[in-house]
Amino acid sequence: MFRFSVIFVILYLPSTALLAGSDNADALLLLLESKIKNEQIQQKAIEAGIERAYICQFCHGKDGNSKRDYIPNLAQQNPKYLLHQFELFANKTRKNNIMSELAKNLTADDRVNIALFYASQKLKAGNPYRPELATKGKILFTARCTACHGKTGYGDDKLPRIAGQSGKYIENTLNKYKTGKIARPLSAMHGIAGTLKNDDILALSAYLSTLQ
Ligand code: HEC
Ligand code: HEC
Repeated sequence: MFRFSVIFVILYLPSTALLAGSDNADALLLLLESKIKNEQIQQKAIEAGIERAYICQFCHGKDGNSKRDYIPNLAQQNPKYLLHQFELFANKTRKNNIMSELAKNLTADDRVNIALFYASQKLKAGNPYRPELATKGKILFTARCTACHGKTGYGDDKLPRIAGQSGKYIENTLNKYKTGKIARPLSAMHGIAGTLKNDDILALSAYLSTLQ
């Protein structure tokens, strides 16, 4: 029994300790970077991620292509963005009851492995969302969004990929940013979404859902 507890503490502590520390975010990024450096380790992490993401597939799909239009696709999402969202959900800064419950039960290793798994999956072309508005959406996107999310909408280490995201999820998310700071209070998007009219939001959602 004693031996078992010691082994348990040794195996378990590194990941929980990481989560408890105030340098949590930096430690997670370092862990992710160390796994990306070596292809074999990265492959192992992805395999562990697939296993740990078993429950996620019921909403986000087996390969991160979501089952419902209001649930975000996670395939090909930037891994550091995913990692950051787990932290925001777990400490309830980003509000969603189901995601908060799930995220707080993920260890540091789980988070990194799951982020690497989804990032490695291919985003499939979704159902076109209000395609008649896509041309207007392209003009708005080019003028208002590319400075941060990039010309392709792929984002980068700090910014989410929004290209190919589900149109309905983008519409809901932009509306939440626009109407208040409740859902994602720390976001840089409040000011930006506040300047968008409802028609602009629909057009942007239409265009972004067509990108690959
Ligand atoms: C019951 C359905 C459900 C399950 C199961 C679920 N999710 Fe989610 N997830 C959602 C919904 C809905 C959202 C959108 C929340 C919002 O609007 O802020 C979301 C959002 C996310 C986001 C943020 C994506 C973004 O683009 O910002 C991540 C990351 C995520 N989920 C990962 C996971 C992982 C990992 C699991 C498994 C451990 C999981 N989810 C299980 C429904 C689910
Ligand atoms: C000043 C930089 C900046 C600009 C400009 C910007 N964004 Fe963002 N956006 C961000 C950041 C940072 C996030 C990360 C998430 C957060 O903080 O809420 C984000 C998140 C998002 C999300 C949520 C993605 C997800 O998976 O949940 C959507 C949708 C989005 N932006 C759409 C847009 C659109 C459409 C425009 C143009 C009208 C735009 N953004 C312009 C910085 C920007």
